[in-house]
Amino acid sequence: PPGSTLFNLQVSQYFCFFLYFTLSLFFLFSPSFFIPTFLRVQFELWDSDDPVPRQELLKKVRGCDGLLCVLTEKIDAEVLDAAGPNLKVLSTMSVGFDHLSLDELKKRGIRIGYTPEVLTDAVAELTVALLLATSRRLIEATHEAKTGGWGTWRTLWLCGHELADSTVGILGLGRIGVAIAERLKPFKVKKFIYTDVEPRPELAEMIQAEYVSMDELARRSDFLAACCALTPETQGICNKKLFSKMKSTSIFINTSRGGVVNQEDLYEALSTGRIAGAGLDVTVPEPLPTNHPLFTLKNCVILPHIASASYTTRNAMSALAANNLLAGLRGEPMPKELPL
Ligand SMILES: NC(=O)c1ccc[n+]([C@@H]2O[C@H](COP(=O)([O-])OP(=O)(O)OC[C@H]3O[C@@H](n4cnc5c(N)ncnc54)[C@H](O)[C@@H]3O)[C@@H](O)[C@H]2O)c1
Repeated sequence: PPGSTLFNLQVSQYFCFFLYFTLSLFFLFSPSFFIPTFLRVQFELWDSDDPVPRQELLKKVRGCDGLLCVLTEKIDAEVLDAAGPNLKVLSTMSVGFDHLSLDELKKRGIRIGYTPEVLTDAVAELTVALLLATSRRLIEATHEAKTGGWGTWRTLWLCGHELADSTVGILGLGRIGVAIAERLKPFKVKKFIYTDVEPRPELAEMIQAEYVSMDELARRSDFLAACCALTPETQGICNKKLFSKMKSTSIFINTSRGGVVNQEDLYEALSTGRIAGAGLDVTVPEPLPTNHPLFTLKNCVILPHIASASYTTRNAMSALAANNLLAGLRGEPMPKELPL
């Protein structure tokens, strides 16, 4: 029967099926067909891996009750005006919400669903992989092996920096920051330090991390991982001021959002040896043009925003996003609602 657990399960599996194969998509619910029985929900699917063209989104969103988006869609006043007053629920298949105009959504009383927790493990795992690839120069090493650079064993060839006995700094100790530290601990890290808008004692206790100022984080970290949300306050927070205080042997890692880094300042820090290396999963813009100066640097490892890209996690994210949307449309508490 409509609304039963069994029915909801089938609906979410159906959504999951689509979302599993189409990572860049949205659902549009048309008010003319949506009545409070879930057998009568109608949706439109952007059935492509490429982002929906803006004009198409503006056209199709008109009159919808709900919208499921991914992070490539900027949901601002223009989209919300195009949708009109029926729009009650927005569900984003991401934990980051910097692509959403929160003020505009709040003003219109639109509820927001997002996908925290289900991606934490995958993002933390990828961050560790990126950190090791950068600090132990794995990309350079495989290139050398493949292209004839591998001569005799040499004492200092391709030496990097190791985690044992190091200090790891975390900028923004949230879910992902803690999960990264938990994974790094067995590598014999000596000390975890972090900074945030305020001390986070409960999370810090899990990894015995010390709260420090931004300056101290820069000065003491051998590895510095940016794990904060992108907000007006964190926009460009990793800049010349930060890099100039870091050790020349330290490694900078960013799997949060490209906007937290001033890329010109990072290029300068890397190209002049101010810091030893950087690993980035996120950039501005995305994709980063192949002729971007950062791509010319051997000590910069750049990934194409794949931190949550495991089959299990993308599946869980899509199911959660669909269930958030359905719960919101029913007027029920969402499994994961972003408090406004
Ligand atoms: N690369 C990827 O594919 C990927 C995947 C998932 C999440 N992310 C990014 O990771 C971020 C963190 O995710 P999470 O689940 O850990 O979120 P979270 O909310 O648990 O943690 C974010 C932390 O950033 C802190 N923060 C906010 N403003 C700050 C400031 N001015 N200075 C210092 N710290 C500040 C918050 O207080 C919080 O502790 C997301 O916002 C998202 O942008 C990226």
